[in-house]
Amino acid sequence: MPDAALPIPDDFLWGVASSAFQAEGGDVPNDWVEAAQQGRLPPNPGNGFWERGEEDFALVASLGIRHYRLSVEWSRVEPERGRFDSAALDRYRRLCDAARAAGVTPWVNLFHFTHPRWFATRGGFREPANHADFLRYVETTARALAPHARHFHVQNESMVYVVSSYLLGQNPPFVASRDAAFDMTRHVLALQADGARAIKSVDPSLLVAGIEVYLDARPRDPADPAQCAAAERFDAWYHGTLLEALSTGWIRLPGRPPEEIPHLRGAVDLFGFNYYSSTAFGPDGVDSFAEREDAPVDRMGRHVFPRGLEEGLLRVARALPGVPLLVTENGCPTTDERFRIRYVAAHLAALLRARARGADVRGYFHWTAVDNYEWHQGFSDARFGLIGFDPQTQRRTVKDSGRWLASVIAGGRLIPSEIP
Ligand code: FCB
Repeated sequence: MPDAALPIPDDFLWGVASSAFQAEGGDVPNDWVEAAQQGRLPPNPGNGFWERGEEDFALVASLGIRHYRLSVEWSRVEPERGRFDSAALDRYRRLCDAARAAGVTPWVNLFHFTHPRWFATRGGFREPANHADFLRYVETTARALAPHARHFHVQNESMVYVVSSYLLGQNPPFVASRDAAFDMTRHVLALQADGARAIKSVDPSLLVAGIEVYLDARPRDPADPAQCAAAERFDAWYHGTLLEALSTGWIRLPGRPPEEIPHLRGAVDLFGFNYYSSTAFGPDGVDSFAEREDAPVDRMGRHVFPRGLEEGLLRVARALPGVPLLVTENGCPTTDERFRIRYVAAHLAALLRARARGADVRGYFHWTAVDNYEWHQGFSDARFGLIGFDPQTQRRTVKDSGRWLASVIAGGRLIPSEIP
């Protein structure tokens, strides 16, 4: 961190990000609830957003944050195949209106890891015949919300969804197969293109932004050829396939003929870049990367490495010239507010360095506003919020990090001497 204050441009977009299931929780008919009932994943009572979203928008606005990324829980909107629940769509519409009334722009994501049970039972996205179901839901929901929201995402972290649900088998539908992961890579890319088209069919002036998490694959020991090869292989598939597909429309996957989906080119008006930590390929498998042994570690065991964010933004900017970037998630799991503030400050400084080096990064969305459910930890010490809540009363309380970020936003600069 330099000594001098780092100015932040006036038109910088400050936001927070969340997802429907993580914030709303509840007994919705999705595959995640089913897996929790089977004891495979933690249960999710939610943080009360479904009932109290209005209050959250006002609280966020009071911190000077003017953008809120939320998502739609598909299983609420279409609990049975082809039956859309108008009350659920209406609730999302009112949430978007409440955000706008508070001076906050809603960014609506249509898929964030959870599938309606009926969709999962039919084989989910792995079955190409099911894609039309998703696209009908995308178009119906965009049509219902479009006058109330103008910023959309087809899906969150499509490549991490493939890794966790189809390569490592950690998330529903718990498939662990390289072959399935390659099939799914093709499918999520095609769905990005088709989903964007479905949204634009409602109104071509709606903005469609992609969201991917940058994993920054590195060898733990750059002098070890096997580690370098493992990191490069992963990187070529995970980041390489995605960036090539978005820039050229061509999908190239190992052992498969290349496929061109022309409307993948330009399928995102803006690239949403999520970043938490860097990935090290070492002698004992995969871990988080750090330059120094004593680098700080968060509550999920990940080392802090802000340089991965700076270099990742520059790489995406080079790969997709003319496409603006937005950090759509960054934050850390902790109960230590000093740790969170230092983490956010270091990543904001990295973002500003990437901008200074030419990456067109328009803003920073913090994950998350109010503490919420984390996929494998449930409600634990792995808390990402700028705002805490009491599980009994659901009363919200702004944390030190929330007040600190508000002062950065109000002052328009990052002042190193004000970082605890
Ligand atoms: C991201 C996910 C998000 C949240 C954060 C901590 O990878 O998109 O849902 O769990 O990690």
